Amino acid sequence: MSEMRHKILALPGDGIGQEVMDATLEVLDFLSSKKSLDIDLTIMPVGGTSYDQHGVPLTNDALNAAKQSDAILFGAVGAPQYDNLAWDKRPEHALLALRKELNLFANLRPAFLFNELADASSLKADIIKDLDILIVRELTGGLYFGEPRGIYADVSPKRALNTMVYDEVEIDRIARVAFEAAARRKNKVCSVDKANVLEVSKFWREQVSALHTKKFSDIGLSHMLADNAAMQLVIDPNQFDVILASNLFGDILSDIAATLTGSIGMLPSASLNEKNVGMYEPCHGSAPDIAGESIANPIAMILSLSMAMRYSLNMVDLADQLDGAVKTFIANGGRTKDIAAGGAFLKTHEVAQEIIQILS
Ligand code: IPM
Ligand code: MG
Repeated sequence: MSEMRHKILALPGDGIGQEVMDATLEVLDFLSSKKSLDIDLTIMPVGGTSYDQHGVPLTNDALNAAKQSDAILFGAVGAPQYDNLAWDKRPEHALLALRKELNLFANLRPAFLFNELADASSLKADIIKDLDILIVRELTGGLYFGEPRGIYADVSPKRALNTMVYDEVEIDRIARVAFEAAARRKNKVCSVDKANVLEVSKFWREQVSALHTKKFSDIGLSHMLADNAAMQLVIDPNQFDVILASNLFGDILSDIAATLTGSIGMLPSASLNEKNVGMYEPCHGSAPDIAGESIANPIAMILSLSMAMRYSLNMVDLADQLDGAVKTFIANGGRTKDIAAGGAFLKTHEVAQEIIQILS
């Protein structure tokens, strides 16, 4: 295969976003020199870091760079000092703007357990053993973006409004991603909704079922109400393979799923558009409480790089090698503070060094 140039934009962001990105870029640097990859890497500020420098959480330059990239590595955004800014100045706004502007409608959030870390889970080890779920969350529609929206302060009583809306195109394209992912996994999709209450959910359920009958009837499909799904995730998470959910329900369920594994510091995510351009970010946030101490776990960010290689950069072999190196690191007893159970632990940058060592 002829070598092509891959444009990667790194947006470290705020708090531990910086540290985990530094560690991940060390790994990328190693991979690109050793495997002679042609990587064109740009690093730009985002979130509060961008606000401090430019007065906005996402500059036009950063947005344009993102639009011209094959993959975006996103660290984390947010810190308490920005909490009282207007919404369009807040760090989180950058995240939603990138999702919307790049049309990143398909959010893949795997939740898997390294069995060595089962004791870190709040659930009993036998319930959580071998956990491997994929949440497919719709990311550019639903309640997050529906119109009309707003706070109406000049009426009495004052009121606020958001709109949950999905059209058939939006539902079909995300359901397709879920079915296709299930075909590469354990062949099961559970679609989550509130069809007992919400019209938009009833429509979602009908649409998913129709697509299933038409194109994916060899995949197992079930439907579950969102509140029950939240409960089932905690009672018996291993019943799930792929969970398909709208923007809001996927937001909530993916936090539950991530927490089950005991360390949110280990889980990556991908947000893809129709062209498989993607933004890759850890499930964890900017963790201001431990920022700057070099103790953050960079594995979620490193595995996000691996997802970028797999889904956007067409380097599946390298992604497999990187995933394997992380597994070996954990199996060899490599630990960061969050998963050390009070024992010895490595610093953020040392994890990158160990993983590079394993890859060498
Ligand atoms: C997530 C986050 C975001 C969301 C916030 C930070 C806007 O919780 O990616 O899950 O709600 O989508
Ligand atoms: Mg969330």
